[in-house]
Amino acid sequence: MHPKSPHNQAPELANLDTNPAIKLGLAIRHQRKQQNKTLTQLADQIGTDAGNLSRIERGNQTISPATLNKICLALGCSPAQLYAQQEGENFAHPANFAQNAKLASHSAPQFVSWFRSVAPYIHAFGGRTFVIAFGGEVVTDGQFTALSHDLNLLASLEVRLILVHGARPQIESKLKQANLKTKLVDGLRVTDDAAMEIVKEANGAIRVDIESQLSMGLVDSPMAGSDIRVASGNFVTAKPVGVYQGVDLQHTGEVRKIDSVGIQKRLDDGEVVLLSPLGYSPTGEIFNLAVEDVAVSTAIALDADKLIFLMDKEGVHNIRGELLREMTTQKAKNLLQHVHQYQHDEQLAAQDAAPYISEDELYYLPAAIRACENGVARTHLICRHTDGAILQELFTLEGIGTMVTETPLELMRQANIDDVGSLLKLIEPLEAEGILVRRGRERLEMEINQFYVMEHDGRVIGCAALYPFASEKMVEFACLAIHPSYRGGGRGDRLFHFCEDQAKHMGFNTMFCLTTRTEHWFLERGFKQRDVESLPAEKQKLYNLQRRSKVFVKAL
Ligand SMILES: CC(C)(COP(=O)(O)OP(=O)(O)OC[C@H]1O[C@@H](n2cnc3c(N)ncnc32)[C@H](O)[C@@H]1OP(=O)(O)O)[C@@H](O)C(=O)NCCC(=O)NCCS
Repeated sequence: MHPKSPHNQAPELANLDTNPAIKLGLAIRHQRKQQNKTLTQLADQIGTDAGNLSRIERGNQTISPATLNKICLALGCSPAQLYAQQEGENFAHPANFAQNAKLASHSAPQFVSWFRSVAPYIHAFGGRTFVIAFGGEVVTDGQFTALSHDLNLLASLEVRLILVHGARPQIESKLKQANLKTKLVDGLRVTDDAAMEIVKEANGAIRVDIESQLSMGLVDSPMAGSDIRVASGNFVTAKPVGVYQGVDLQHTGEVRKIDSVGIQKRLDDGEVVLLSPLGYSPTGEIFNLAVEDVAVSTAIALDADKLIFLMDKEGVHNIRGELLREMTTQKAKNLLQHVHQYQHDEQLAAQDAAPYISEDELYYLPAAIRACENGVARTHLICRHTDGAILQELFTLEGIGTMVTETPLELMRQANIDDVGSLLKLIEPLEAEGILVRRGRERLEMEINQFYVMEHDGRVIGCAALYPFASEKMVEFACLAIHPSYRGGGRGDRLFHFCEDQAKHMGFNTMFCLTTRTEHWFLERGFKQRDVESLPAEKQKLYNLQRRSKVFVKAL
């Protein structure tokens, strides 16, 4: 299993009692269920898809005021009623039963089971290279102590860590103390000689603070027994930005080269590398750099597995203000382009509907795009204000921030012979329960071309099959299964629609399925119950009278 997949939060890491998004989601679900509305029905009413609505109900997606209003309209209640409900009641949510149980008690079996569930992550992370970047605020706001505990944990799992710190608040405070004013050109500081002295001073102080925190090893703290050695040095070569918009930015620079060999040697020796946003030129000059430039350049140069930015916001939001757990670089570019259009078009900007994007997102999203387009597997944007944010992002199935990748994490495709093992793992428990018809490995191997799989992060998490009955132009939709950890997120729906499109494309005009326990799921997707005689003749002969499956048919 890959480190970042669906939800499976560890007990200590997710507090359902206090998470307002989860509470609001539960209130919506409760209200919907009371009105006997299905996820799909409500989703249709508010003009979204079932997957989105399911994420909202599970608290995995921030709800925009516009969406909340639509939901309230459809449910005939006011937002205030929903908020009141979430305060007053403690709803049970099937998807959270396991987590609730874990929260309720920390008994030994639960602890053991949770601890075992972390094993795949431990395997996955050992020997991987992570670049973790954070602003100087993390130190000034006293958040580095908690962060150092999490870094210590990662180091103990043999993650190769490179930390990149910023120093903006420290520099600003020292400039103020010295009564020095610096000019900003399009967000870039003009670093003159006097300001450069302050930049050096601030970076030196913050580095020493970080090194001292990482050196702690108090017996009664999470740092007990830790033996982190921190390496910093002249790993970053820089060059001046030069004259920008007619202004000489002087000592403000940009990364020219990263000494990846030097850094790798330190990592090989088990050291944690700490980089400041400073770079040196072959002529002996020092340059003031942007933290994201150093972080991205380092991640690219080291071919890092992950680049993690800690920022003020909880992640990246779409134009409706909903938190996105995952996004491709293309999606990120589209979002930035959209925002750019609003910022540069007076008519659009005057409209109330201008998309909101935080300063953080504007800084870090382009950095994430650059990193992912240059070979960094994943860039994570997570909130510095959340205690244990890194652990939640890395050790829970869906994480808590936004993960940017070059290619989509979830995809649907035709199955191939290499998928047989994963398919068996997925369907065998359902066959044992009698939910799916038993197929042996041999039959599966023979029918593999009829199967379609849904992959999440390289792992098969869902499947379905299409069996053609060419002479009747009918196709059977069968063996639909979604891995239990991934259910309720609209994936079954997406896989069904994907198969439906495939079937249409292949020229079939009717789809049917046989089910014993999922009739409503199919009814909600436009199937109608029919008798066995409506099946293709060949299928009628194979109809298992004992199983007494119900027949559902849908015109394509
Ligand atoms: C049926 C299944 C594929 C749905 O996958 P999914 O990704 O959870 O589906 P979606 O998120 O698109 O839909 C979830 C909705 O389907 C409903 N649902 C799940 N199983 C259902 C069932 N057996 N009957 C009716 N509705 C069902 C859920 O309750 C949820 O609706 P709600 O939020 O209104 O309560 C999945 O539950 C599964 O693998 N089940 C076991 C195998 C199976 O039954 N296969 C069908 C054999 S014919």
